[in-house]
Amino acid sequence: MSEKFRIKGGVPLKGEVSIGGAKNAVLKLMAAAILAKGETKIYNVPDLTDVEIMSSVIEGLGAKIVYDKTEKSISIDATDLSSITAKYELVSKMRASFIILGALVSRCKEAMVALPGGCAIGERRVDFHIKGLEALGTKIKIENGYVHAKVSKLTGADVYLDIPSVGATENLMLASVFAEGSTRIQNAAQEPEIIDLANFLNTMGADISGAGTSEIVINGVKENSLRPIEYTTIPDRIEAGTYMSAIIATKGKGIIRNVFPAHLTFFNDKLLKMGANIKLIEPTALEVSCKNRLSSINFVTQPYPGFPTDLQSMAMVLLSTAEGVGVITESLYENRFMQVPDLVRMGADIHQDRNHAIIKGVKKLAGTDVSASDLRAGASLAVAGLMAEGITTIENLHHIDRGYERFEEKIRLLGGKIERYNDENPPAKLKEGLYNETHL
Ligand code: EPU
Repeated sequence: MSEKFRIKGGVPLKGEVSIGGAKNAVLKLMAAAILAKGETKIYNVPDLTDVEIMSSVIEGLGAKIVYDKTEKSISIDATDLSSITAKYELVSKMRASFIILGALVSRCKEAMVALPGGCAIGERRVDFHIKGLEALGTKIKIENGYVHAKVSKLTGADVYLDIPSVGATENLMLASVFAEGSTRIQNAAQEPEIIDLANFLNTMGADISGAGTSEIVINGVKENSLRPIEYTTIPDRIEAGTYMSAIIATKGKGIIRNVFPAHLTFFNDKLLKMGANIKLIEPTALEVSCKNRLSSINFVTQPYPGFPTDLQSMAMVLLSTAEGVGVITESLYENRFMQVPDLVRMGADIHQDRNHAIIKGVKKLAGTDVSASDLRAGASLAVAGLMAEGITTIENLHHIDRGYERFEEKIRLLGGKIERYNDENPPAKLKEGLYNETHL
């Protein structure tokens, strides 16, 4: 079923929006839940297709999962596991499911996990994950596109990551929870989602320190000593940054609730430099507004606490109509400017040279038909559509649905003109060619 967004741009967003749980934390907590026998319950779990895929991966191992949409909780009972395999058909749909490798090695001492392969935004290798697991004593064979990992006894080790990879840091944390002795991850990723995973594991009974710094130490605890827990995940900083961008892009004024402002320090600093207003009105609420044309800035995406690559496309939309010339350097992925061709079709003046994008601010963007090519590029086109003059339609919404829960509902709460429709069964007026902006 092919669904599209239809957006009427140019309406300043006003009101309040509440941020859900962090996708990139929840997915890892779900994998970590299999380290304990019994039922673990995670709260603040967004209703996303990525969460569904991770549920299927874990169910495929024999665990029982119940997602409560009303309560926004997921219960995972991993008392009995009957399989060590994560199939390609699931891992290829969502790379994050590769995180099950470290959890299975910990719990079962053996795992068969499909290699995820690259994806639209880049090659996204997993060599650090593999090298780290080998350092802990795991024998790894790559067979028919699967990583076959087996170990009789996990032993703590010092592991240095060439890049502070989020996934590799998490896989190593999971794999070393029961390893004999201490494991030290140097040049570890410092993202808030890493801290959330460490807090989750420590609440279960693990002994992890240093999460949130570049050196994480995991002191192995006794096997089978982890207990099931109840835990609430952190808010999604990227979802928050997306709605902040939408409010600023439309020259609106709104409140973002259930956000941890400290997780957005670098992003907020850049928005302030561009001329947006951001006010902390409560410990977990920000008021965001923008009246005047923004000024251009330059930035480089970097691992946390630097500028988040996942918000690069939103900032590009803001730069597309800012005064002056801005330069974005994407340092994490080889191909994360997928939004550029569509933004140019909307009237933006962007020149891309390898991992640099030079954005010359134009006065306004104009709505047209565009296509989401990946999650964040897709969301940025929706922000562009809200800012542009006229109607924008966006196809391939499945990308946006991976990481944004009820996107159109939240935008509508802010007064934005957006609707989702099924392309095979469009609203009657659209079929008749009578569907103009007044119908939104
Ligand atoms: N890398 C390697 N070898 C490895 C691991 C990573 O070369 O073994 C490279 C990657 O190719 C990439 C860079 O290191 O160029 C950073 O990758 P990292 O491992 O840090 O990213 P990830 O764990 O695959 C998570 C998020 C991404 C987010 C990045 C960076 C999840 C599920 N995904 O990916 O989120 O962009 O960290 O912050 O946590 C998104 O939500 O849209 C998204 C892509």
